[in-house]
Amino acid sequence: MATKVSKELLELFNKAIAREMQVSIQYMWQHVQWSGIKGFAVQGELKNIAITEMKHAEAIAERLWYLGNIPPTTKPTPIFVGETLKEMLEADMKAEEDALVLYRQIIELARKEKDETTNRLFRQILADEEDHHDTFTTLLENFEQLGK
Ligand SMILES: [Fe+2]
Ligand SMILES: [Fe+2]
Repeated sequence: MATKVSKELLELFNKAIAREMQVSIQYMWQHVQWSGIKGFAVQGELKNIAITEMKHAEAIAERLWYLGNIPPTTKPTPIFVGETLKEMLEADMKAEEDALVLYRQIIELARKEKDETTNRLFRQILADEEDHHDTFTTLLENFEQLGK
């Protein structure tokens, strides 16, 4: 039998899925659009991160379905590709910051509701998002050092 969790927690799952889909597509299209010397170092990272985000969306959706028999949302949070590399990296950094805030909130709620599996799942995902945030921050700093 599935753990009983609040509707509030399940709604946060769908919010998380919407943003995982957003960044998965966002990073994928950024990866496709960026070429050239400066873009090159960024490209591979974007591709790998986009795949990780898709796996996050799927893992969260599986948990949502298991706990509530609720179909995962098919609507991503608005996607922003950006026109310059700087614009893109700033948006990606912000997207990861939003993830950190939301996932800390989910972890806290899961703990309160004694849902250990969700707690563990989101702690793993949170660690990935911290990594991504770090990657984008470093890339942006390097880019700024290169001069605009
Ligand atoms: Fe993610
Ligand atoms: Fe991420």
